[in-house]
Amino acid sequence: MAVERTLSIIKPDATRRNLTGKIIAKFEDAGLRVVASRRIRLSQAEAEAFYGVHKERPFFKDLVQFMISGPVVVQVLEGEGAIQKNRDVMGATNPANAAAGTIRKEFAESIEANSVHGSDAPETAANEIKFFFRDLDIVG
Ligand code: RTP
Ligand code: MG
Repeated sequence: MAVERTLSIIKPDATRRNLTGKIIAKFEDAGLRVVASRRIRLSQAEAEAFYGVHKERPFFKDLVQFMISGPVVVQVLEGEGAIQKNRDVMGATNPANAAAGTIRKEFAESIEANSVHGSDAPETAANEIKFFFRDLDIVG
């Protein structure tokens, strides 16, 4: 399997509860490597642009408010099949449906405050990485 890069975000519910280390350990234990990382506070415009694909969904406004409610950690994860591997480690969107041992099963508070974001396909991964990082900021 090819080495890939994917975009991960540790969401405000997790930074608020000081869970960044525990979450990053899950990625590293799965063989994913953090090759870029930044702790930031998203503006409303940035959150709306990042989640633009969901702008017609009923939960869009709440999602944007949640994503700007506190700091987030944006990071690039690298590894074999990193896009799918990250989604596997994250678990299902709704923590009630997430498998044992996944980040969302262990840490998520709700379907919205679900601790992590992960790119869902190669094209979105490339676009989402570009949204936050220059090539020079990614050190594998
Ligand atoms: P993400 O994009 O954050 O990695 O999550 P995902 O692929 O598992 O889920 P997606 O359908 O893309 O939804 C994006 C985020 O919107 C919030 N959400 N709220 N209230 C709701 O019904 C609802 N549904 C989704 C979650 O924060 C979800 O991760
Ligand atoms: Mg998604």
